[in-house]
Amino acid sequence: MEPRWPRVRNVSETPAEDVRRAVEAAVWAPSVHNTQPWSFSHRGSRITLRADPDRRLGVADPTGREMVISCGAALLSLRVAVRWLGYEPEVRLLPDPDRPNLLADVILGARIAENDDDRRLYDQIRRRRTHRGGFVPGPGVSPALQAKMRLEAQREGAGLLVVEDPHALRVLAALTEAAEHLQQLDASYLRESARWAPRPGTSRPEGVHEEAYPRRERRTEPYFPGRDFSRGQGWGSAPGAGAGSAQEQVTGLVMLITTSGDAPGDWLRAGQALQRILLRGAQEDVSAAFHTQALEIPELRALVRGRFCRGRHPQMLLRLGRAEAARASVRRPAEQSMIEDF
Ligand SMILES: Cc1cc2nc3c(=O)[nH]c(=O)nc-3n(C[C@H](O)[C@H](O)[C@H](O)COP(=O)(O)O)c2cc1C
Repeated sequence: MEPRWPRVRNVSETPAEDVRRAVEAAVWAPSVHNTQPWSFSHRGSRITLRADPDRRLGVADPTGREMVISCGAALLSLRVAVRWLGYEPEVRLLPDPDRPNLLADVILGARIAENDDDRRLYDQIRRRRTHRGGFVPGPGVSPALQAKMRLEAQREGAGLLVVEDPHALRVLAALTEAAEHLQQLDASYLRESARWAPRPGTSRPEGVHEEAYPRRERRTEPYFPGRDFSRGQGWGSAPGAGAGSAQEQVTGLVMLITTSGDAPGDWLRAGQALQRILLRGAQEDVSAAFHTQALEIPELRALVRGRFCRGRHPQMLLRLGRAEAARASVRRPAEQSMIEDF
């Protein structure tokens, strides 16, 4: 006989316990320089997500665009976790125009039945990692996965553009390199990024640690340089012995996430689309490398918009492929992101 109530999984004794479990998953979202620029509060079964402006990159991200994209990724993870816990998430974006850091309310709504797709997505939240460096040659992102990712982006109100033209790829790689050099010339940018690129051996649960990037990047063709998190000190993880390190590496599939507008609501949508794309990729062992340097320089972002995005606003530039080995990352404990409701 059919059960009378939908079968739910992982039900906790109290909403507070479920809220904690959902937030514990959400904090594993990607964020620019691993700043984790979010806070969560809750009242009853409502979780409120806020941006934490003290963690915004004042030089690289003065408008808070990347901060809000990062929070959007955390919001998507929160929604996935709430479903996995057996509730329909009811989401209200930017509920109070007078409070710009208030980004979303998520209510643990009606009970829903267990669903394999929710579980598979949820399983990727902690497993997914940002990749840095080239990818292994061979089959990368299948056309079926590309189509799925495009749909996922649309579902969140964003667009996904796969860049295939070899000239366009070279221009995007060259703009990334130019942006990297421009940022290296800017002392205030260097001071800011040093704050989020701690020395090896640090116990800080934030920032990009040396286990997260390679000591030396092999050049791919075309080559999208990574950020210099080692601050020219030669830090970074050594290539793993026998892990195919002598092998040639490839650029992977280059894509842009775009939105029709360029306001905080669009950034929040872009972040949710980003995380859906990343989780779908992780499900099929596809990793992503991020290259947002050019999008942090207004003139270069305008060029990318005009030339490659048909006037839509570029929000993220990614490369996707199969990684040789998973990188490591860190997070603050969820309690440190939870604040009193007020
Ligand atoms: C908006 C945004 C921009 C990012 N830009 C870059 C980038 O330019 N280079 C890079 O290596 N990683 C970039 N990242 C990835 C973060 O550094 C990464 O998410 C963070 O260090 C946490 O590591 P994890 O994703 O492996 O958990 C970006 C992430 C976000 C959300």
